[in-house]
Amino acid sequence: MNIHIRERQEGTDMPQAQVPAIEISHLERTYGTFKAVSDVNITVPRGSFLVLVGPSGCGKSTMLRMLAGLEIPTGGSIIFEGREVASGSRGIIRGPADRDCGLVFQSYALWPHMTVAANVEWPLKVAKWSGVDRKARVAEVLKLMAIDHLAERYPNEISGGQQQRVAIARMIAPRPKILLFDEPLSNLDAKLRVEMRTELMRVHRATGATSVYVTHDQVEALTMATHVAVLKDGRVDQFGSPDELLHNPRTAFVATFIGTPPANLVPVTAVDGSWFFAGVRLGPSQDAGSAQLMYRAERLGVTDHGAENAVRAEVVESVPLAGRTMVTALVGETRLTAVIDRMHRFAIGEPIGIRLPSEPDGVFDEKGIRRS
Ligand SMILES: Nc1ncnc2c1ncn2[C@@H]1O[C@H](COP(=O)(O)OP(=O)(O)OP(=O)(O)O)[C@@H](O)[C@H]1O
Ligand SMILES: [Mg+2]
Repeated sequence: MNIHIRERQEGTDMPQAQVPAIEISHLERTYGTFKAVSDVNITVPRGSFLVLVGPSGCGKSTMLRMLAGLEIPTGGSIIFEGREVASGSRGIIRGPADRDCGLVFQSYALWPHMTVAANVEWPLKVAKWSGVDRKARVAEVLKLMAIDHLAERYPNEISGGQQQRVAIARMIAPRPKILLFDEPLSNLDAKLRVEMRTELMRVHRATGATSVYVTHDQVEALTMATHVAVLKDGRVDQFGSPDELLHNPRTAFVATFIGTPPANLVPVTAVDGSWFFAGVRLGPSQDAGSAQLMYRAERLGVTDHGAENAVRAEVVESVPLAGRTMVTALVGETRLTAVIDRMHRFAIGEPIGIRLPSEPDGVFDEKGIRRS
């Protein structure tokens, strides 16, 4: 795991360029006996785009709120650019306004009685910028977000996507060093989401700020991130680059959560040196007992029901995919998804055979931890 924890207090003499933008160590947040966030360790360099991804309730917003200074950790610490901003023992050391962070939530609450320009100018007034500087900066960020033509409109006179741009413009206006996003695109339709993703990446490059972005959408995570932390039940299941997560998932959870489509996981039992699934011999096994084998969708073959060495499955979904076909079928309770190199519309309920290659793409133990 590419995690680096450094014991360091404020005011060390490490060269600025080497100081990580964000260091999260043993971060914890409990509510009563419930651990919403537990022993999270993440360090990222300046300019990173860190994505926190995971299913609903895994602790993403709690993490982001602790980074923003809106939630007090019950353990561990958060260090921004060498300065501790919060810790379990010392509480919030720097408040939200004193962290050089910008924040955008899913509900982006613009001031309804202010124009777009006035909304964007607001944080600059709070930060006591001069009138001349404010005017120049507002013009600059409105242009960057391609909403300069909307400057004099009110929030109820612009679309949801445009409101989202205003919220982002308002956040980046005071040039925060760290940008925090909590599912900022979830109110937008699918097409707009894709556009705004590209737009956000452009803004990220233009500002050079370190970003932390929360989403439950793994495609969004892989598209945007330089670093991804996959959260599950308040813990980091895996932290790494998008490529590491895709090509080398360390847990069965990551394997089945990340990827388009995610990899297949097949529960197998070893009998006489071979893995067996649904009565079919898959390949040689080094271990005894049970395991979960990972197969990527493009490695599965679809054949006739009852064909030799194929498991018998029933189609539950068939989707055309850029000249190929993604077909999902059930073998008992196990879902298998294959991507095949031809266009074919399978009927729902259609019996098919699925061939699994003798070499799996990975082996996980029964608890879901990677063996090989
Ligand atoms: N103030 C609170 N008191 C008690 N439990 C809380 C509180 N805030 C959050 N939780 C619990 O902590 C867990 C994590 O919540 P959090 O909002 O961080 O999840 P999330 O990953 O952002 O989920 P979603 O994708 O649905 O937004 C949840 O089980 C939630 O019910
Ligand atoms: Mg949330």
